[in-house]
Amino acid sequence: MLRTAARALVPGIGVPWARWSWSGAGVQVHVVDLRSDTVTRPGPAMRRAMAEAVVGDDDYGEDPTVRELQEKAAELLGVERTLFVPTNTMANLISVMGHCRRRGSQLLLGQECHLHVYEQGGVAQIAGVHSHALPDLPHGTLDLHELERAITRGVGNPYHPVCELVCLENTHSSSGGRVLPIDYLRQVHHLAHTHGARVHLDGARLMNAAVALRVPPARLVQYCDSVSFCFSKGLGAPVGALVGGSKDFIEEAWRLRKALGGGMRQAGVLAAAALVGLAEAEEVLLRDHQNAQRFATGLQELASPMCSVDAATVETNMVLVHVDGLSPAELCRRLQAVSAEEVAQTGHAVRVLLFPWTERSVRVVWHRDISPRDTELALRKWEFVLRQSGL
Ligand SMILES: Cc1ncc(COP(=O)(O)O)c(C=O)c1O
Repeated sequence: MLRTAARALVPGIGVPWARWSWSGAGVQVHVVDLRSDTVTRPGPAMRRAMAEAVVGDDDYGEDPTVRELQEKAAELLGVERTLFVPTNTMANLISVMGHCRRRGSQLLLGQECHLHVYEQGGVAQIAGVHSHALPDLPHGTLDLHELERAITRGVGNPYHPVCELVCLENTHSSSGGRVLPIDYLRQVHHLAHTHGARVHLDGARLMNAAVALRVPPARLVQYCDSVSFCFSKGLGAPVGALVGGSKDFIEEAWRLRKALGGGMRQAGVLAAAALVGLAEAEEVLLRDHQNAQRFATGLQELASPMCSVDAATVETNMVLVHVDGLSPAELCRRLQAVSAEEVAQTGHAVRVLLFPWTERSVRVVWHRDISPRDTELALRKWEFVLRQSGL
């Protein structure tokens, strides 16, 4: 038994992403993957729907399952049309290209938002759009005075690019899944439109925001000119996102998707998974939010000087843990390692998978493959690591 393996840390020999793996000493290791809500794998209902999907050539507009998804999503988001695309990155890029049609267009956005940091600068590389990034406030919003100053700066001045678009992100990932207030969305829309600009919403996790506020998603889209929406995060589908907007905007989006190589053929197998994700979204996301809240409260109760969390800022499926006394990378390594002492002291061998988020924090993300029991096991593992670290 592992208990005899002295104090050595025993790395598992199973694949780290498996739910269960085996430690070298024959103890079953329970894996809790809290890196992101993109790591979900389709369950039996989703796989069945994919296998049974009625399909056609979607590039000819002939895939009934894609059409069904697009129509259902348009209704849910309160927009005239939607267009199914492979990724949320492509949905964002298509939206920016659809709004910023002249050379020298400027885009305003938060400096930590996904579109600015993690999408290969596609808006510059491919769309030729100049981004002006503003500091994000701690709850994922932009300062409205700063925003107004940035929008109006180029007005009538031939030296400056012209601001055509403001991009927001809801929920706001880098601030820990914070939900943008509806009144803030209204004010940004008013400001942008007053100065001839449009608003695009990166709604990769829009359903999380809607569930957290207990409002229909359409209420969060009403102040935007376009929206992206992702099926492969909390909704659990393997692939897929969409762009939503007016009929004219989506007609143009169709051309842009083609130009970017995103036109798909029998994509109904993917749309079928997205439809299952959509049908189950409310229930699944609510549970994810409850698990995140339970974890944050539990960690707060440990009152460790090494890891602090403000449970009041946990609004959706993410928890930002502030780390002191050792590096986030080292903390992640210890949470992933399994030792004989852990088994002796806790009765479990748990491997918690996480990434360092910033130099001082770790972001923990819940999703449909994480149960309340997994959450409890992750918390116990965290407690064990803190005690072992003497912090
Ligand atoms: C807020 C946000 N927007 C966009 C994306 C890009 O999504 P995709 O991986 O589908 O391109 C992500 C991915 O994690 C995201 O978190």
